[in-house]
Amino acid sequence: MQNLGVAITGSGSAVPATSLENQRLTELVETSDEWIATRTGIRQRRLALPDESLSSLATAAAHQAIAAAGITAADLDLIVLATSTPDDLFGSACQVQAQLGATQAVAFDLTAACSGFVFGLVTAAQYIKTGVYQNVLLIGADILSRWVDWQDRRTCVLFGDGAGAVVLQAAVSDRLLGFALKSDGRQNHHLNLPYAGSSKELIPGIKVTKGSYQPIEMNGKEVYRFAVQRVPEIIDKALFAANLSVDEIDWLVLHQANQRIIDAVAQRLNIAEHKVISNLAQYGNTSAASIPLALDEAVRQGKIKPNDIIAASGFGAGLTWGAAIFQWGK
Ligand code: UT7
Repeated sequence: MQNLGVAITGSGSAVPATSLENQRLTELVETSDEWIATRTGIRQRRLALPDESLSSLATAAAHQAIAAAGITAADLDLIVLATSTPDDLFGSACQVQAQLGATQAVAFDLTAACSGFVFGLVTAAQYIKTGVYQNVLLIGADILSRWVDWQDRRTCVLFGDGAGAVVLQAAVSDRLLGFALKSDGRQNHHLNLPYAGSSKELIPGIKVTKGSYQPIEMNGKEVYRFAVQRVPEIIDKALFAANLSVDEIDWLVLHQANQRIIDAVAQRLNIAEHKVISNLAQYGNTSAASIPLALDEAVRQGKIKPNDIIAASGFGAGLTWGAAIFQWGK
């Protein structure tokens, strides 16, 4: 009999060594540690230096996840890199594949902003559930510090850089218990990293556009409202698919965007504070990396144990949002 179940068998994470405390941001914009801490819960964030890259951070997280799963890079069939900030717009997954020496693995990027990890988890799982692949590496990594306007206090205080990874393996019993994904492009304008260019005449009669990507633009209030409403709904939907009740969740691992969002979602779902994982104070919003980074820290701290049931939910640009309910370990 083929193993068509999915088990998440190892995790890893990596962050740049350089940290930037809230207080230092007052050198750049009119803000305060007090405003940032009380409005967001963030106290510091890690920043990638110019000689660091998305692929090197992703590779470092991947090495740990592969080791934790007890496999080698040569065993990997597929690498999915969830990122919105690749080193190369054509994708960074193949660079990670080369750096890992995962010569047998197919590799591609997946772009779903802060929902990237949850969307990637579901995508990766489909290849296992159809019997196509057995060992899949999923990485969530972002370097948003390269894409913020450091003069815009509404956004520059929020983001940080990092990477997290998990290994998914074929198993007899399915440990991805339920999921739900949603997209609503009608609300796209609330959170963007837009391309802007000007029209240039290439040859008489034909114009092309030449430009570059612009810094992150966000309507914080709208995104906040969206998250607090939609995230509890999507977790409920994923729980329904898993045939589980909210009481059966051991850990809530949300995208780490704002402590007030995390608290409001937990409150709406009636999930006790001690079940809520949060590391936003140390890292800020690391986009696609935030869930696997929080997950990996909680596993390494011995909080998340084999067989624990985790509800993970990501939300952000697109707009996109999604939730996955899974049982940890082999
Ligand atoms: O990862 C993708 C998902 N993203 C999110 O989930 C983000 C969701 N949104 C949020 O987390 C919050 O909306 C923010 C943290 C971004 C903003 O918090 P807020 O409580 O919604 O503040 P606000 O935008 O309503 O701004 C309140 C005030 C404004 O001043 P006035 O107009 O009341 O005079 C802002 O100009 O705070 C001001 N402000 C700041 N003051 C000091 C905005 N940013 C700052 C700042 N320092 N960094």
